[in-house]
Amino acid sequence: MAKGRYIGPFATPAALSHRGRPCFPYPPERLNSDIIRLPGQASGIEEAPCGRQRMGEKLMRTLVTGGAGFIGSHTVDLLIAREHEVVVVDDLSTGRRENVHPEAVLVEMDIADPELATLFHSDRFDAVVHLAAQPSVPRSIQEPLIDGRVNILGTINLLECCRHSGVGRFVFASSAAVYGDPERVPIPETAATRPLSPYGLTKLTAESYLRLYHDLFGLETVALRYANIYGPRQDALGEAGVVCLFVTQILNGEQPLIHGDGLQTRDFVYVEDIARANLLALGPDTPAGVYNAGGGTASTIIELFDLISDGRAPRVHADPRPGDIRDSVLKVSMARRALGWQVTIPLADGLQRTWEHFSPVG
Ligand SMILES: NC(=O)c1ccc[n+]([C@@H]2O[C@H](COP(=O)([O-])OP(=O)(O)OC[C@H]3O[C@@H](n4cnc5c(N)ncnc54)[C@H](O)[C@@H]3O)[C@@H](O)[C@H]2O)c1
Repeated sequence: MAKGRYIGPFATPAALSHRGRPCFPYPPERLNSDIIRLPGQASGIEEAPCGRQRMGEKLMRTLVTGGAGFIGSHTVDLLIAREHEVVVVDDLSTGRRENVHPEAVLVEMDIADPELATLFHSDRFDAVVHLAAQPSVPRSIQEPLIDGRVNILGTINLLECCRHSGVGRFVFASSAAVYGDPERVPIPETAATRPLSPYGLTKLTAESYLRLYHDLFGLETVALRYANIYGPRQDALGEAGVVCLFVTQILNGEQPLIHGDGLQTRDFVYVEDIARANLLALGPDTPAGVYNAGGGTASTIIELFDLISDGRAPRVHADPRPGDIRDSVLKVSMARRALGWQVTIPLADGLQRTWEHFSPVG
């Protein structure tokens, strides 16, 4: 049963009273043998320290799917800095073991695996941040079945686990791709949704499941429609790999290609800002619903290229890519009001940090 309106000024504290339970009694044989262990945990996950940690007045034990990936690993870093206990579920398909914070526990598992229920029943999570996905738009067009299996069935599997184990709050990484080519920019949350790819459609479908699980079962669900996220640890093959691609190509002495006229606009957000949006969405005062998470500022691809290349490479244009959205800039006033969130890191600063991360001398 729903606890309140889907988007509205209600706040339902997550069920947080799990003290006295074994901290992580998931059978060790089901865990990846190279699992990253909590400090002081010599062998066997049961030995993990059971003290709950705090976010403000709340004690939080948080499951992060995709926590070995780009955005997920920054989110885990921030949650641990804010004293959450973090368990990461990741199949390492695009993520990396070395990205996972040493104080997080990594369970190497597919989110669509029915065995996920065992993890939820043997441990207790207060909240889930769901970032694991098939994240590539081109791959979703080539292999829509794989995209649908991970992004839809994997999400339903997680929601079912939450429903049956009493998880209070569920934060989901959705995407501006749900809008397709917008009629106007900046795009408000109420704009029409006409995804141009299976990826955008699976994100939109997952959002609908979140709303249903809120209305039917009272799960506090928050979907954040990310703009184009960039920063350290990004993989150039990802959804918004253009920053990473330009940076790494210029560093390697390769010529980046600007697809089309380069006047298409994007809304770039530094990864630490989006990690903070995820953290704020976990707060019990954030109303369930769907929020844009962007910078609200349009940058053309040419502007981006010039900022990154700084004269080190000429502008070279190639054919436009099929399915590419012309303009994508998000209206962010709702997230500002409901989450108290806005970007803090200007594009030039974020690009400098990204350049330094990828630079061998940086
Ligand atoms: N990067 C962006 O600009 C952007 C924009 C909009 C939305 N998003 C969304 O944010 C989330 C994180 O994206 P990212 O850029 O960090 O990508 P990423 O590829 O770095 O992270 C995805 C993680 O999910 C894991 N994963 C994939 N399939 C899995 C499965 N079946 N089971 C368990 N783990 C699985 C991967 O190993 C990886 O660690 C995704 O949901 C993506 O769709 C990203």
